[in-house]
Amino acid sequence: MTATARLFIGLTPPPAVRQQLVAVRDRLHAVAGGKPVAQANLHLTLAFLGQTPVARVEELASLIDQCGFMPMTLQLASVGSFSRANVTWAGPAERHMMLDGLAARLHQSLQQHHFSVDAQGFSAHVTLLRKVACPPQTLTPAIIWRASQLSLYESRSTPDGVEYHILHRVISSAGHPQT
Ligand code: 2AM
Repeated sequence: MTATARLFIGLTPPPAVRQQLVAVRDRLHAVAGGKPVAQANLHLTLAFLGQTPVARVEELASLIDQCGFMPMTLQLASVGSFSRANVTWAGPAERHMMLDGLAARLHQSLQQHHFSVDAQGFSAHVTLLRKVACPPQTLTPAIIWRASQLSLYESRSTPDGVEYHILHRVISSAGHPQT
């Protein structure tokens, strides 16, 4: 039997952004309830692969290395929800060309290499609450996220809930002043 792991690729927020997301999460939770996403688990998914042979993790890591990831600034200015999935999220208010381009390149590369990837249209969001769908609202002030870490995550189910483990990461400092 082939060993598999549940994998996805996403942007990993730095601690300061994580704290701001937690503040929004807690504000929403106080009003609407639901199940808060753990601070350590906050991320923005770019591609969901699902169960994938562990033997292909290295190949996947090199595809991620080659996807041309450059840091980008995201403005999370909206709160919204997916009513079907019953989750509430924070996300950009508008489409973001660099982010959409990155997601498209990843999907294309994964498909070319015959990875099974969720082909649903990409919708940038950071899930904050599960089991509740809050009405849309503007997030003021917006959370400004200089996204410089792209990660390959493994999602593991534990008796205490889901845990995400980073198996590979690309940290790009391109565009930052050298110090
Ligand atoms: P969500 O945050 O909106 O639930 C790990 O499950 C991550 O992959 C989550 O961020 C989840 O999105 C995302 N994801 C995307 N497509 C998925 C799918 N078909 N099944 C489960 N998770 C999916």
